[in-house]
Amino acid sequence: MGFSMKEYEVESAPDRLLADLKHGLAQPQKSIPPKWFYDEVGSKLFEEITRLPEYYPTEAERGILLNSADDIVARTSPNTLVELGAGISDKTTALIDAMHRLNGQLPWYVPFDISADAILDGSARLQGQYEGINIHGIAGDFDHHLGEIGGEGRRMIALLGGTIGNYPPAERRFLLETVAGTMKAGDSFLLGTDLVKDPARLVAAYDDSAGVTAEFNRNVIQVIATTLDLPLSTDDFEHKAVWNAVEEWIEIYLVARRALRFDVDGMDVSIAEGEHILTEISAKFTMDRLRSNLAEAGLALVDSWTDGDFTVSLSTRAELAG
Ligand code: SAH
Ligand code: AVI
Repeated sequence: MGFSMKEYEVESAPDRLLADLKHGLAQPQKSIPPKWFYDEVGSKLFEEITRLPEYYPTEAERGILLNSADDIVARTSPNTLVELGAGISDKTTALIDAMHRLNGQLPWYVPFDISADAILDGSARLQGQYEGINIHGIAGDFDHHLGEIGGEGRRMIALLGGTIGNYPPAERRFLLETVAGTMKAGDSFLLGTDLVKDPARLVAAYDDSAGVTAEFNRNVIQVIATTLDLPLSTDDFEHKAVWNAVEEWIEIYLVARRALRFDVDGMDVSIAEGEHILTEISAKFTMDRLRSNLAEAGLALVDSWTDGDFTVSLSTRAELAG
């Protein structure tokens, strides 16, 4: 009863960060995986991003959930809510409230995030708000620990916020397949996806006038410098956001302000002045792409809800549907 948390070694895993860096910095297009954004500072900066006037996805998704959560949960009548990349569980209350109304009791809630701090903050808030709610947090990396999500009863597994868009196609497919593979009869998958729209709006959402996204992006350099004791400074990089019209995704880069050379565990890394390091993609969806991404992973779309900017979709495991 109450709150419990299982913590896998993630943020404090310099060996994982090191392996990711050695791989990413050895490619012709250097890259750093976006999961390393979310240390304590990065998680707070992301929260600040969600409150920016230019960053529309959070309020768009919240509006869809507030309008449609009763309809969404009525489709599969879940009594456990597993939330992947829950962060501080900000929009989750719309789903918890709807499950409470439908079942006459609070759902079990299983927030899963790489940031233990975010889970602790969010869970403390939810426990204040919902007396007697049972929360089992999982601090882990869904690239490694998805097999551990557990949860009893009829589960709704949610991946909100458009986080699926931060995965390039092959990894996206793998993540969706892994989620589908954990699903039993009665389980459902609730996915938030941001939609393709005017590139100017998209770029503004990832390059805001207050510079918060720039700070969020550059913070990953601080995470690397601190965790691996490397001589890197956030001041050596500039933030850049680009709309890739062919792939239909936003790319965010750190652009080196000067030439840099350093050693990463025996690997000599040189970064030229002006060189772009890819730190994140944020894919935008059409209904066709959403449907085919789900189908490729063995998920059958049940229904979707949209405000024209963002879509929340519900699916079940195809081989169990029908
Ligand atoms: N769902 C929230 C937060 C989205 S931000 C919302 O919609 O606002 C993305 C979240 O995913 C962050 O909380 C981050 O810590 C988490 N995350 C990113 N990569 C992850 C990974 N590989 N494993 C687990 N959590 C991850
Ligand atoms: C978490 N994820 C869905 C955010 C996004 O919009 O792709 C991360 C983000 N990056 C920059 N701004 C927000």
